[in-house]
Amino acid sequence: MTARAYAKVNARLSVGPPRADGFHDLVNVFHAVSLIDEVTVRPAERLSVAVQGRAAGQVPDGADNLAARAALLLAERTGVAPAVELVIHKAIPVAGGMAGGSADAAAALVACDALWGTGLDPAELRELGAELGSDVPFALLGGTAVGYGRGERLTPVPTLGDFHWVFAVAEGGLSTPAVYAECDRLRAATGVPAAPPVPDDKLMDALAAGDALTVGARLANDLQDAALSLRPDLAATLAAGRAEDGVLGALVSGSGPTCAFLVESAEQADRVAASLSRSGTCAGAVRADGPAPGAGLV
Ligand code: C5P
Repeated sequence: MTARAYAKVNARLSVGPPRADGFHDLVNVFHAVSLIDEVTVRPAERLSVAVQGRAAGQVPDGADNLAARAALLLAERTGVAPAVELVIHKAIPVAGGMAGGSADAAAALVACDALWGTGLDPAELRELGAELGSDVPFALLGGTAVGYGRGERLTPVPTLGDFHWVFAVAEGGLSTPAVYAECDRLRAATGVPAAPPVPDDKLMDALAAGDALTVGARLANDLQDAALSLRPDLAATLAAGRAEDGVLGALVSGSGPTCAFLVESAEQADRVAASLSRSGTCAGAVRADGPAPGAGLV
């Protein structure tokens, strides 16, 4: 069984103060894009993970791999032996702020559920996903959705048409907990208490209307200053992309370090990706479109 799962970008990531459990309440506008990881599962004597693709060396291949943890959790809850070989083909940037690990977990849940015939419904899979990570339920759902709480409580958002993106991939990744901690530190230094996360109705109207110009102007990420504080080189990447014709908006994706650019048309996105790749401000750039679907069987 092979399942496919997609990367995400956050059109808005509004972050509240830290909660007692260490997580932050969010208003997280997720948008799935066409960067794809595939997870293939086969019956085997015992659980194993192998990772393929250019960045395979950066992905854990032991029991701390999120796809392996997903298979184990599903097996435990349904009373099945976790006797499965997982092969992950990675195209989503690793530790890049695009929920690649969550995509692999979502694909593993879908593939193992089909292989084992455990037949969980989509809501049950999303509940299991939430135990694995805050972004896993969205990787299962796909499309565009607002995530509340840790980001796991989802409300789907209907959108019109396609949005064209370019993603500038950085050398090396950023640790998500480290970026949240840096956000807390920067806020504490201002002496102003952090406010609860806030929605943006104009952004939501623009997504619904397919108004890319307004979406581009309203892209916002409360983790961006923290990501830039840990990786000051990202400022040059954002500036290089913003200077390109057809770029409607730019931001750090999630906890970074991938930088995302919303572009007017698919043709311009191809040109912007080529230009950013040559700019020397990132390790490479790729084009992708959204909204993409949730994790599903191939
Ligand atoms: O849920 P997930 O495992 O993806 O979260 C990784 C880390 O990111 C958490 O341990 C926490 O430090 C941070 N996080 C957070 N608030 C969220 C989501 C993640 O502080 N809503």
